[in-house]
Amino acid sequence: MNGNHGTNHLDAEPVDGDTRYGPDDRIAISLTVNGEKVEAAVSPRLLLSDFLRGDLGLTGTHVGCEHGVCGACTVHLDGVPARSCLTMAVQVDGMEVRTVEGLAGSDGTLHPVQRAFRECHGLQCGFCTPGFLMAVTHLVENEELAETDDGVRAQLAGNLCRCTGYMGIVAATRRAAAEIASKG
Ligand code: FES
Ligand code: FES
Repeated sequence: MNGNHGTNHLDAEPVDGDTRYGPDDRIAISLTVNGEKVEAAVSPRLLLSDFLRGDLGLTGTHVGCEHGVCGACTVHLDGVPARSCLTMAVQVDGMEVRTVEGLAGSDGTLHPVQRAFRECHGLQCGFCTPGFLMAVTHLVENEELAETDDGVRAQLAGNLCRCTGYMGIVAATRRAAAEIASKG
């Protein structure tokens, strides 16, 4: 997205000649979400988490703390995990967004990380799970997983779980990494 607020993607005139956006202004954005092209006109105040959940119906992305602490809202932006509750929808113009709905295959086959979480009891209530799945998927797909369990816990410290005690999550992360590595 071009940072020039005065000219780029602006569908409405500035308020009274002011260069700031008003509450009714909309900005056109074009992005890819889970492989599908999306075009929308959004308020510059709209959070990416609200855009995904409210506008696109992708409610797999959860919203917990709404201020960047819990990690439940984690998605991938151009392949990098990011807090969708701290990202404005207009910031992802031109980007590739991957949400938890994009992990499973089109035939419903679970991603190895999803399967491992199920098999290793990496979830209980499941509220934190979409964020963990996105964080872990990034680590294992990029072969960045730490060698020790303490290292894995440190890598996942940006995601909070109030149920599991993390043992199942660490075990699931290791199992998924092993499966992905075995398939080369
Ligand atoms: S909802 Fe985004 S970090 Fe908690
Ligand atoms: S499984 Fe309940 S918060 Fe993590």
